[in-house]
Amino acid sequence: MSDEHQPTTPPEKHGPARNLDAHRARYAQRTAGMTASEVRALFAVANRPEVVSLAGGMPNLAALPLDSLAGEVASLIAQDGQGALQYGSAHGVPELREQICDVMAMEGISAHPDDVMVTVGSQMALDMVTRIFCDPGDVVLAEGPSYVGALGSFSAYQAEVVHVAMDDDGLQPEALREAIGNVTARGGRIKFLYTIPNFHNPGGVTMALNRRAEVLEICAQHGILVVEDNPYGLLGFDGQVYPPLRSLDADNVVYLGSFSKTFASGLRVGWVLAPHAVREKLVLAAESATLCPPTLNQMIVSRYLTTHDWKGQIKAFREQYRERRDAMLSALEQHMPEGCTWNTPDGGFFVWVTVPEGIDTKAMLPRAVTQRVAYASGTGFYTDGFGSRQMRLSFCYPTPERIREGVRRLANTLTEERELVRTFGSIPQREVPGPQAPSPDTA
Ligand SMILES: Cc1ncc(COP(=O)(O)O)c(C=O)c1O
Repeated sequence: MSDEHQPTTPPEKHGPARNLDAHRARYAQRTAGMTASEVRALFAVANRPEVVSLAGGMPNLAALPLDSLAGEVASLIAQDGQGALQYGSAHGVPELREQICDVMAMEGISAHPDDVMVTVGSQMALDMVTRIFCDPGDVVLAEGPSYVGALGSFSAYQAEVVHVAMDDDGLQPEALREAIGNVTARGGRIKFLYTIPNFHNPGGVTMALNRRAEVLEICAQHGILVVEDNPYGLLGFDGQVYPPLRSLDADNVVYLGSFSKTFASGLRVGWVLAPHAVREKLVLAAESATLCPPTLNQMIVSRYLTTHDWKGQIKAFREQYRERRDAMLSALEQHMPEGCTWNTPDGGFFVWVTVPEGIDTKAMLPRAVTQRVAYASGTGFYTDGFGSRQMRLSFCYPTPERIREGVRRLANTLTEERELVRTFGSIPQREVPGPQAPSPDTA
């Protein structure tokens, strides 16, 4: 149910306002970094059917074989309900961990099921990894821009994010060296590099193959762990699969994977593959967080991998997303005003757009929503206030027709905004925003 349909509760039902202040005074310091998405309220409006949302990262599940999945779930419970509905181990269902190794083998990763821990989506893996490695004030290096949910986890553990620049070939090794040098020179403690090498969220770019070994070498030289987040790796539009960093270095990479984009995001099944000692510590952290990931959901994924043509399904997803990517790129080409630039993703869900100087994408968002189109403004993907001239457009969820209409409306909004800027001068830069809690609207 979207927010605008929720019944409004009178404020007195929540207790007197002074109680709210008392609760706030008790919060742990780390909660200061837990802020709701700046645009969450706006998304209640953006989710209305008349608005084309190019903002959210929701996978399009229309192609899933729902009838046969329903049959599998029913037979799973009928045949093994006592197991499927029972607690399990924090490490995850053993059969699924073996199958996860088969999935990773498609990308050239050779792994042992013992080193895999199943998580409640890779979002939980991000939280667990940060929990076991980061003390307040520790530094995490992350591409600029970076995944909003990861930034939220880093901030929740009071880690400082230092962004490393990307270009069309992904993270720049030279910028990585420079960032390490700067942090080290001021006595900062870098705990890990967080990177999304394939079909980046939100950047849409992929790390060039020749950069991968170099990035690994730089991190190894400086004793920095690499946390590789790869939920889109099998969604290359031409079927291309780039070698994950973990396939090049098993000792210094913690790898995060997910079934959210290749099967069903609502089941919340992801995983982390980590060097043995790290995996042991992760299991302890996961026990204290959730006891175990949901057994039924893991068994549904396991059964799906056994009984369905999951590789064929991934191919169908790829084709669907490629068609939508093409619709978005051709509409951008046709409609966007002069001065806008964007990249051409060869997989994943997102296009990253830069708008002409003077336009602030966050300030413009309410006007875009009035024109019945929504996007994610760039500032949410940085912790340092950058991104006000950027926006992320998602092509994963709307149909090609809606995408074309959405881009047309966005282009009109931008054209009007440019006129405003020409007439009244540029809109002042905003305050530096903090990282935000992820929400399905903006993930
Ligand atoms: C880069 C990245 N990492 C992690 C996640 C979280 O995925 P999951 O659904 O597995 O928690 C997302 C979701 O959008 C993502 O884009």
